[in-house]
Amino acid sequence: MRILSLVCTVVVAFVPWAFPADAQVVIKFSHVVANDTPKGKGALKFKELAEKYTDGKVRIEVYPNSSLFKDKEEIEALQLGSVQMLAPSTAKFAPLGVKEFEALDLPWLFKDDATYAAAMKGEIGTWLFNKLKGKGITGLAYWDNGFHMVSAGRPLLAPADFQGLKIRISGSKVADQYFRNLGSIPQIMAFSEVYQALQTGVVDGCENTPSNYLTQKFHEVQKHITVSSHAHLQYAVIVNSKFWNGLSADMRAQLERAMNEATDYTNSIATKENEDALAEIKASGKTTLHYLSDDQRKAWREAMAPTYVWAKGRVGQEILDIIAKELNLTMN
Ligand code: LMR
Repeated sequence: MRILSLVCTVVVAFVPWAFPADAQVVIKFSHVVANDTPKGKGALKFKELAEKYTDGKVRIEVYPNSSLFKDKEEIEALQLGSVQMLAPSTAKFAPLGVKEFEALDLPWLFKDDATYAAAMKGEIGTWLFNKLKGKGITGLAYWDNGFHMVSAGRPLLAPADFQGLKIRISGSKVADQYFRNLGSIPQIMAFSEVYQALQTGVVDGCENTPSNYLTQKFHEVQKHITVSSHAHLQYAVIVNSKFWNGLSADMRAQLERAMNEATDYTNSIATKENEDALAEIKASGKTTLHYLSDDQRKAWREAMAPTYVWAKGRVGQEILDIIAKELNLTMN
């Protein structure tokens, strides 16, 4: 008896993620944006499909709007296993030990949504997910959220307009660099703190997509927004590998099916969601939208170009070479 109980203790101790056959598996899915955004809707779609395909054997608890964890905490929580699934912006992956994801933040990298989507389905997306292996994290999907705009209390049309502005960024050193190239002072801050920081003047400006501006009301505390599309915002849906590998193969397959369908859904609505959000921001009359002329865009691109050279030291030549090949670009 004592031997049996010792064996059981050892088995339980060494297989902490194995689940009893009939216990309901709970997946806590934490994210920082509103439900009414491409990511928010994608998470709810995944919940609906995952619970359906597993016949209720899995329950997905979605925690939007930083209601469970803020940016940095949620990454730590995933590593510790106190949350099982996240979909952070890839700009926030350096704390996982994978700075290479920041290559996706290079300014003016993707010329349109279709180019972005093809890149993530191809070698770029696969190569980056392989980098997560060995970090205890498994990448399941890439979710789109379109292109960044940028805003402040004054119109941002020429690089000189950025001089001395404190700009909130989400975490990427590549974004830090391109804002420095423009003469501004970037500052990393959790997403949940941005509205108040803009309102009280802790920072002067920020970058984000229309759906995030609208749902966080950033446009109500920024007098001028430039619809610049200077960089792209995408998410990687990630899980704790020990948790994921501890599920039965059947259950994983059902969840993968749900994730694939939720991904197609999210990526199919992202562009329209952002167009609608932009129209709503415009109709609100609470801010002024600006669009760059060709000459102005050229001046921004030239001002930000040094980021490409600088990025080699940050993300490494290998991912830059893959991106250059896949997107048919000359980087130097
Ligand atoms: C941000 O922090 O600006 C974004 O990454 C938030 C998000 O998840 O869209």
